[in-house]
Amino acid sequence: MDRLLRGKRIIVTGAAQGIGAALAGGFCEMGARVVLADCADPEPEAERIRAAGGEAVAVRMDVTSLSDCERTVEVAEKAFGGLDGLVNNAALFSALPLEMLDEIDPDLWDRVMAVNVKGPWLCTRAAVPALERAGGGSIVMIATNRIFHGFPRMLHYDASKGAVLAMTRSLIRELGPKNIRVNTIAPGLTMSEGVLARKGIAERAASVAAGRSLARDQQPEDLVGPCAYFLSDHANFVTGQSLAVDGGGVIH
Ligand SMILES: NC(=O)c1ccc[n+]([C@@H]2O[C@H](COP(=O)([O-])OP(=O)(O)OC[C@H]3O[C@@H](n4cnc5c(N)ncnc54)[C@H](O)[C@@H]3O)[C@@H](O)[C@H]2O)c1
Repeated sequence: MDRLLRGKRIIVTGAAQGIGAALAGGFCEMGARVVLADCADPEPEAERIRAAGGEAVAVRMDVTSLSDCERTVEVAEKAFGGLDGLVNNAALFSALPLEMLDEIDPDLWDRVMAVNVKGPWLCTRAAVPALERAGGGSIVMIATNRIFHGFPRMLHYDASKGAVLAMTRSLIRELGPKNIRVNTIAPGLTMSEGVLARKGIAERAASVAAGRSLARDQQPEDLVGPCAYFLSDHANFVTGQSLAVDGGGVIH
């Protein structure tokens, strides 16, 4: 398990903090070389990984810009000589207000769609030629278990993550011939920094944990192994799948 990702060259978006930072650090411990991409400064996380003996490069970028996505892929190819994997993790999530359908600002709806749907599309679009040059690769989309459960007060977010799942399923039909796999991870409520900063999170987390088969809080590190599996050669014949990682909250 330790060297599951030996030699893999992976871009993780949204890696300046939270789940993305945990994924980047965990992948490096498994032998990967990682580009941490984020609109916030990912350099401190990259530095933390390098200090622990890993190989990591930071890129400040916006996933809604095709040229930024292309520049990120160029950095990966220049730094590591190629690209084997992409994790589309960046999203608007933890800072979103909880609002009913008639309270959501239409401009915020558009912004959520731009970052959470257009972003993974543009990153994927930019990465595909590099993955093809490497002989194939693996893309992991990060959705949410909310899309299988149904929850109130985040309609924009849930719609955007439903689109991510739909994209996964259609993308495999286009990318299979290039030997590029695409799978989705659907996390449950996870105690990232952004989530921990939310008001009333302790009560919400306790009620979510009580509904799980494994009744505890979910940590960003809980997502490392499942994502790494999809990125690894052990999943070479696995594509178009979605995996809920939420301690047995939803079964789909
Ligand atoms: N934490 C949870 O409870 C939870 C549950 C299910 C799914 N998820 C998903 O997991 C992922 C990470 O969650 P998190 O809690 O760490 O989120 P977060 O909101 O704490 O972090 C998201 C990261 O994405 C970055 N980002 C935002 N917009 C960007 C842009 N335009 N370009 C580049 N980077 C951008 C942010 O700077 C931040 O570092 C998200 O896709 C989220 O939807 C989270």
